[in-house]
Amino acid sequence: MEKRLANPVVSADAPATDPRPYALGYSSHELQRLELQGALIRDFTEDVLRRAGIRPGMRVLDVGCGVGDVSLLAAKLVGPRGMVLGVDRSADATAMAERRAVETGRCYWTRFATEDLDAFACDETFDAVIGRLVLMYLPDPSATLRRLVGHVRPGGIVAFQELAMPLTRSFPEGPLFSRCVSWISDTIERAGFEIDMGSRLPMTFAAAGLPAPQMISAGLAGSGPASPLYNYISQTLRSLLPMAERLGIATAEEIGIDTLAERLCREAVEQRSCVMTPPLVGAWTTMPGWWDAARVE
Ligand SMILES: C[S@@+](CC[C@H](N)C(=O)[O-])C[C@H]1O[C@@H](n2cnc3c(N)ncnc32)[C@H](O)[C@@H]1O
Repeated sequence: MEKRLANPVVSADAPATDPRPYALGYSSHELQRLELQGALIRDFTEDVLRRAGIRPGMRVLDVGCGVGDVSLLAAKLVGPRGMVLGVDRSADATAMAERRAVETGRCYWTRFATEDLDAFACDETFDAVIGRLVLMYLPDPSATLRRLVGHVRPGGIVAFQELAMPLTRSFPEGPLFSRCVSWISDTIERAGFEIDMGSRLPMTFAAAGLPAPQMISAGLAGSGPASPLYNYISQTLRSLLPMAERLGIATAEEIGIDTLAERLCREAVEQRSCVMTPPLVGAWTTMPGWWDAARVE
């Protein structure tokens, strides 16, 4: 039997550099919401990872890994001959990710570290750095990305997936759905985070010194009484609620959080709506190789 990987040595004492409170918080509800979200968008992320070239035997760094959804997907693709390291600043999230790695049997080649990305340092080299829904929360995403890709070998892969929130819509427009979209976007934006990171990926890659990425966009759409999207939207607002209240955007009473999913469902069914959550924009590129550096000089 292979040995389970020990946790890596990272600079755990380094102070977090971002003073902004994280919009979604770290409640147990939020950790469960991440798992729900991970299940809903798993196929889109697997598609991006495969297109980017993640394959058996690779060593992958997943940044802002949350409760491990992307790390565990990468672990499936790289298999036991590869290795995945997931990094997140929330100890509760990485503890849950570790439990899930054990449950799926991927703990033998997947490990997690609790660390702020701006303080992350390790002396390993990876074949790929990947991340989902994380650059949007960084104070200077291109600077962090530039540092992180320093851990990737020449010719290695850089692949990220981020939201284009301004493209969220329902047809026909539903008043309650539109209010939910505003509450969510306003809270994230006014808390200081980027709501259109998906559209900014080419700029961010360029500013990090990376070649122009290949890209794809995919999103969830739903209709009718059985769609899981009403619950997903309501769970997202539940996580954002403390921040929405603190910023004076909406109160729990105004949102009616306990009945929100049911009312969103009723509105969509009555209007025969097509409800679309924000597209996930995927971007991937390869690190310039030593031969590119030689050509530039
Ligand atoms: C929306 S969650 C996405 C989690 C995971 N990538 C996924 O798609 O399921 C964003 C994660 O980024 C992490 N994060 C945000 N800023 C970070 C930072 N500066 N350092 C480490 N983790 C960070 C948060 O702790 C959170 O777990």
